[in-house]
Amino acid sequence: MNIIIMGPPGAGKGTQSEKILAYCNIPHISTGDMFREAIKEGTELGKLASSYINQGLLVPDEVTIGLVKERLAKPDCQKGYLLDGFPRTLAQAEALEKLTQEISRPIQLVINITCEKDALIKRISGRRVCPKCGNSYHVEFKKPMVDGVCDNCKSELVQRKDDTIESLQVRLNAYENQTKPLIEFYDKKGLLKEVDGLKDISDVFKDIQKVISEVAK
Ligand code: AP5
Repeated sequence: MNIIIMGPPGAGKGTQSEKILAYCNIPHISTGDMFREAIKEGTELGKLASSYINQGLLVPDEVTIGLVKERLAKPDCQKGYLLDGFPRTLAQAEALEKLTQEISRPIQLVINITCEKDALIKRISGRRVCPKCGNSYHVEFKKPMVDGVCDNCKSELVQRKDDTIESLQVRLNAYENQTKPLIEFYDKKGLLKEVDGLKDISDVFKDIQKVISEVAK
């Protein structure tokens, strides 16, 4: 399957991506994760990306498109891909059309997770992540077994630097102005399926499984 998962910050893209991967066995391409990895490693890309991400702004298109182009050219994408957080602008969506043609893997499905602002604020402010292995939790909705400690590698959980209320407001504005127009872009192509992200994590995944199996028929 060749899938895009989109939705506002905190809608549950990363949470559902983990489940989709186990279900479909395809590589997960999350531009947010790729940037965070580069920041952790202190590369030039990481330095550039952090100056945008920490303020809640989008990283420039040419940088992000170049990164995805390199990733999609890797052999594992020949069996499909799950794009999470890309595309986020019309320019990225148009570039992606060309990239997917080049690798003969056209997009089959765009899952749009919908969610209300109040829920997004609650989810983002309660999110805790593991700085070592990247696992993600929530203080109320996805608690670790031991408070503040990663189930997987036992590291102390932290808050993402861009998970402040100020940065979230900028991210929500970027979503409204730059990313939301993609809903119409993909709807016109007949690729869009909406999923109600306000439900429980497991119920959202049940709905996602339904749309994936309809497309895979
Ligand atoms: P990115 O990492 O993609 O962040 P985002 O889109 O803001 O999304 P989040 O990771 O915050 O949320 P999510 O939807 O994955 O929610 P999650 O599953 O974690 O990007 C970060 C930054 O990188 C961007 O701001 C930008 O600067 C840059 N960037 C990335 N891609 C770019 C691009 N293409 N172009 C330019 N710049 C780019 O869930 C959130 C919390 O809620 C968790 O704690 C979870 O446990 C909980 N939760 C999830 N689902 C539910 C549920 N159904 N019920 C209750 N709780 C839930």
